[in-house]
Amino acid sequence: MKRAIITSALPYANGEIHLGHVASTYLPADITTRFLKMSGTEAYYICASDDYGTPILIQAEKEKKTPEEYVKVWNERDYSDFTAFGIDFDFFYRTSSPENVAFVQYVFNKLLENGHVYEQEIIQFYCSVDRKFLPDRYVIGRCPYCKAEDQYSDLCEKCGRIPQEIEEPKCAICKNPPVKEKTKHYFFKLTNFVSDLSRWLEADSHLQKDVKKYVQNWIRDGLVDWDITRDIPWGIPIPLSDAKGKVFYGWFDNHLAYISSTLKFLEGKGLDGKEFWNTAEIYHFIGKDIVYHHYLFLPAMRMGLGGEFKLPDYIPTRGHLMLQNKKISKSRNWYIGLREFLQWYPADYLRFYLTMITPFSQDDLNFDWDEFAGRINSELIGNVGNFVNRALGFTQKSDGGIVPAPDSFDSEDLEAQNKIRNLEGELTPFMVENHLDRALKKILEFSAYFNQYFQKKEPWKAETGKNNCIFISVNAVRSIAISLYPFLPESSQKIWSQLNLEGQISQNEWDAISKMAVVPGHKLGEICPLFKKVEISDIQAHKTKLGL
Ligand code: MF3
Ligand code: ZN
Repeated sequence: MKRAIITSALPYANGEIHLGHVASTYLPADITTRFLKMSGTEAYYICASDDYGTPILIQAEKEKKTPEEYVKVWNERDYSDFTAFGIDFDFFYRTSSPENVAFVQYVFNKLLENGHVYEQEIIQFYCSVDRKFLPDRYVIGRCPYCKAEDQYSDLCEKCGRIPQEIEEPKCAICKNPPVKEKTKHYFFKLTNFVSDLSRWLEADSHLQKDVKKYVQNWIRDGLVDWDITRDIPWGIPIPLSDAKGKVFYGWFDNHLAYISSTLKFLEGKGLDGKEFWNTAEIYHFIGKDIVYHHYLFLPAMRMGLGGEFKLPDYIPTRGHLMLQNKKISKSRNWYIGLREFLQWYPADYLRFYLTMITPFSQDDLNFDWDEFAGRINSELIGNVGNFVNRALGFTQKSDGGIVPAPDSFDSEDLEAQNKIRNLEGELTPFMVENHLDRALKKILEFSAYFNQYFQKKEPWKAETGKNNCIFISVNAVRSIAISLYPFLPESSQKIWSQLNLEGQISQNEWDAISKMAVVPGHKLGEICPLFKKVEISDIQAHKTKLGL
């Protein structure tokens, strides 16, 4: 049996999940995992909260909580919001787990032993107004590469690079120039891996071409070694006697939780985690803001371990979600929380809309309330909901819900039957290549075709042809239910129940899509509409809430 481990970027345990998080990362990863499971792969979706870092420490202090208490709250809250959205993790753990702490320290020691880590005295920013060392986000200034102003010292949002030294630094809290102090830090020798990384990127692989290209440009411009130490009291301790009080930078430890959480989970299932990892296809779903970390740091660290854990096969990378064409920003209160959204609409409405607008590319996407209403009402409800309800409702009315035996097919029936037989083959390449939006659009085309077929056959009039039309249409409904499952798990289960077919929708194999498995004489379950229309007056209220 084929194996796969799927991860999605670990959410910081520092605030609620909003629509921007789920569009590019968690939803595509969830759809992919469900698809893989149906396709006969032993696949597990692993995630965790990202618990360390200065922002979390500072926020916990503000709320008069220990950082442990603080991250526990968000870990639980995030997990429950994801679950409400139908994100079905096999395991959701945390970067602060004892297993990850031990694993990160092990990795560090190994890298040290293998000559990939060295010590160096550095000058660090210190704000004498705020009386704090100022790591990362707490220093802003000009990017030394692209000269963009007001960039964080650990990531330029304009060019995506990680500045070695930001120009004209200012304290992010009080905007005063910080002073410099000496401290000893550990560096990961990223420069040891230039040729291995280049070879990995050049190799024929599943990595996205456009992403590879600009990572290669970064390499061409020259990589620099990476400071992996922070002088703060919240993080994984550096396991050396002369590193007292120092912890790892969050980006050193967080992605290692992909592995440590997987090992913990598989051990719980009585499996050999390392063997599983190394024989599985590895997927890391991310947003384009963290390409640098996943295409350079992460593979280099795994290479530095000497092949103990294999590199990712897929790093599906998608763009950012905008909200009404403006960049989402929590601090400017320009976002929609996932929990809030789910109080208004079913998870599947959001899953449908986001999948439709999210291509497999780094292009940004845009959440627009009017477009949301339009697509739900006309495409999900007007097309899919309509066909399902019409075909099943008609069977109920005309034949008491019992699927009639077909007669010999005419050319239209034969064409319709072929549509069913070909559906799986049309969807699979898109699913395999992660063009989830295109696959979903194919299912809509299929449904639209059957709406027309049903309309044309006029089974309510014609005695001849009625049975064929019902028989084929009910089978088409079944194909829709199965193919929609990865995208809209709740709705497809509803269709399944109305069809009154055996088992749960999730137990179907992907290739069941193209079988005509509803047999004559089968009795349907209770039929009712699947969806409720999105009211324009409600949409207006949501817009008003945003100040539109
Ligand atoms: N917490 C990080 C962010 O939201 C993502 C961490 S992904 C990992 O940007 F790979 F590093 F774990
Ligand atoms: Zn300051």
